[in-house]
Amino acid sequence: MQAGLAERASVDFVLTLRRRWADTLYPALGRQYREQLAAVGTMDEQDVRELPAYPWFSWLERGAQKMLWRAVMDALATPPATPSAAAAEAAVDVDPALQLPAWYTDWDIHVQPGGIWSSERAAAVYEQGAKLVMLGENDDYAFHRVFVETALPARDWRRIVDLGCGFGKSAWPLKARFPDAEVVGIDLAAPCLRLAARRASERGLEIRWRQACVTATGLDAGSADLVTSTMLIHEMPVAALEALFVECRRILAPGGTLRFLDFQPTGDFLRDMAMREHGARNNEPYMPGMMAADLPAMAEAAGLCHARWVAFDERGAGRLQALEWPERSEWHFPWAVLEAECPA
Ligand SMILES: C[S@@+](CC[C@H](N)C(=O)[O-])C[C@H]1O[C@@H](n2cnc3c(N)ncnc32)[C@H](O)[C@@H]1O
Repeated sequence: MQAGLAERASVDFVLTLRRRWADTLYPALGRQYREQLAAVGTMDEQDVRELPAYPWFSWLERGAQKMLWRAVMDALATPPATPSAAAAEAAVDVDPALQLPAWYTDWDIHVQPGGIWSSERAAAVYEQGAKLVMLGENDDYAFHRVFVETALPARDWRRIVDLGCGFGKSAWPLKARFPDAEVVGIDLAAPCLRLAARRASERGLEIRWRQACVTATGLDAGSADLVTSTMLIHEMPVAALEALFVECRRILAPGGTLRFLDFQPTGDFLRDMAMREHGARNNEPYMPGMMAADLPAMAEAAGLCHARWVAFDERGAGRLQALEWPERSEWHFPWAVLEAECPA
């Protein structure tokens, strides 16, 4: 970002606020919860909402998110147009007839004003905001590299399809790790795809970018041997998820592999409640439905097999062996990988 001192100060302020929200306020809420639970024996969601730290935790989550977008929008300069950027963008396979689903456009996802699909600037704002949401600790997109390195089997993939690729940060490491594979990134948002194409060309990565709904990719049946998604499925209603698994079954070749990185409940009452309410506070209305649904059963009903969730630790270990996370006092997203295979 080409920001002056005032804009950088705003970004630093929001980042620090978010860090303290996660590493100080959430543990304080946890202490209050455990003390109260020990005193009264049982607590429900309303009891949690009445704890002294809860209104602070709740308000700051949404308030800091709004501040984040404001700070990024103030700080973001328009990049100069260059012939190489124009060439990269022109190669994106945009579908002018595509109707974006209402469930996708009706919400300003992540509280970003105007959503991520409405303009080139919206995509650029999203790119910068996405770095800050990871508390500034993902500047080199280590998170997605850890996913690619630990959650995907090392094989000679011929075609990898990254569903809901956004501005490309999930697709670039696929091509970097599997340079001989054809990598196809699919998303509904044409501005994000154009940004993805520009960034891929800056990195020297040749990736195909295609505008489509992940429930109707337009790819040939049996033409993919690995299908991935990161942070996609919690943004889709359950009915669309059913259609997504049917489409994955259709495009996967016999013996093909599916790996989706998203969230699962942890079994910790406070964490799971905070996560459900995060969906409402962060304008991600379909997240609770996705987390409550039995997605392995849904994947198997669509004809996939060996479907199961395992936990994911974004700090470096990546994919874990079971759906169990290491103990952590700070707020963190309960990352998990949904794994399934296509029958041979
Ligand atoms: C949170 S972003 C994740 C982007 C990227 N995978 C990453 O990890 O950074 C979710 C992306 O999914 C896209 N998306 C949501 N629903 C979709 C659908 N039905 N079809 C295609 N893309 C979709 C959104 O446009 C957005 O770019």
